[in-house]
Amino acid sequence: MEKGEGTPKGRDDPFWSSVASFGLDEVFVLPGWLEEQRGDDGRLQRRAPARSVAEELEALVERVGDCRSCRLCQERNSIVFGDGNPDAGVLLVGEGPGANEDIQGKPFVGKAGHLLDKILASIELDRGSVYITNIVKCRPPGNRTPSRDEVAACWWILEEQIEIMRPGVIVALGAPASRTMTGSTDGIGKLRGSIHRYGDIPVVPTYHPAALLRTKALKRPVWEDMKKLRKLLEELGLPRERSSVDD
Ligand code: URA
Repeated sequence: MEKGEGTPKGRDDPFWSSVASFGLDEVFVLPGWLEEQRGDDGRLQRRAPARSVAEELEALVERVGDCRSCRLCQERNSIVFGDGNPDAGVLLVGEGPGANEDIQGKPFVGKAGHLLDKILASIELDRGSVYITNIVKCRPPGNRTPSRDEVAACWWILEEQIEIMRPGVIVALGAPASRTMTGSTDGIGKLRGSIHRYGDIPVVPTYHPAALLRTKALKRPVWEDMKKLRKLLEELGLPRERSSVDD
């Protein structure tokens, strides 16, 4: 390309004024580049600064709005979107909000949630070092397992959450979440104990804390899974300490 090709013609052009303010009187500009920087009114546009993960998630909440894509909307009080540190390297995925979660609008705030906190603490994690969500964002009545069509209707939200957060590791809690994240139809007893993948993100399936409340014998395999998670986080160089979260 010849020197000066594609430069603006008029020196009263706003682009040219800013170039001149740097003491330059000649620049190279790729043909078409300048036109791409102009809005409909022909004026040069300022680019919006990149949004943070938290802002992207907020924008997703806006898009979800008052979602009516499946029957779970009929009895819900809240859409339980997620909670924790959006910049965390670990994303925990549960099954669906229960009664307490539906009222408070936050995941895992009931008995199972208290146990989950203890499980996380066993490997120096807390709600400030993870983000928690569910495969369905509205409470299945009577805490029943969400149906396949309900999971499918809600899937785009979780998919976008993952796309926005790009977690280093996903921990799937219980069979429905583990099946959803691995695409397998196997039971949780078979899925846990190995590391699976969602795209390039490692997935660690483990028992749901509610199952642990019912069956104490599941404590040991969950502890094994947590040790696996801790090792994985170390290998990936992912920090476990709290970085930012509102209490
Ligand atoms: N169980 C889940 O799977 N998710 C919650 O948010 C609460 C209980």
